[in-house]
Amino acid sequence: MKVSNIDIIDSIIDQFKGKDGILIPLLQEVQNKLGYLSNDTVRHIAERTQITPAEIYGVITFYTQFRTKPIGENIVRVCHGTACHVAGAPGISEAIYDELDIGKNGTTDDLKFTVEEVACLGCCSLAPAMMINDKTYGRLTPDKVRKIISNY
Ligand code: FES
Repeated sequence: MKVSNIDIIDSIIDQFKGKDGILIPLLQEVQNKLGYLSNDTVRHIAERTQITPAEIYGVITFYTQFRTKPIGENIVRVCHGTACHVAGAPGISEAIYDELDIGKNGTTDDLKFTVEEVACLGCCSLAPAMMINDKTYGRLTPDKVRKIISNY
C-alpha cells in the first residue's frame, strides 16, 4: 500500500481514537478518501484499531455502501425503480453490461466505468432513465444507451 494512503488512514483513525462505535464512520471516511476498501486497507485498520479483520469484513459485506474494489472514472446509475422497470430497465442494463463487457454492478477493467442499478432517480416521466455522473438520460432504448456509452 502507498505510504500516502497509510498516512491518510492513520490520520482518520486518529480522529476516531478513544470513541465508541467508530467502525462504520471510520470505514465511511476511509472509503470517501480512498474510493474503496482494499484488503491492505482492512489489514492496516485492524492492526491499528485492534478491531479484528473478521469484524471489519462483517460490516463491509453487510452494508451495500461499502466497496472492496476500485470504482470507475464514470459512474453509470441505471434506474430500476418501478416506472423504469416497467418501461424496460432490465433491457437497458443488459445493453450496458454487454457494451462494457462487465457483469451486474461491475467495473470495467480499464476503470473507465462503474455501473450501479439503483432505485428511483426521481425523473420517472423520463423512464427508462439513467445517470452518468451528474447528467441524466431518459426515454432510453438499448440502442440509444449503447451510443451514449460509446461517446464517453
Ligand atoms: S422509477 Fe426510474 S426515475 Fe423513477
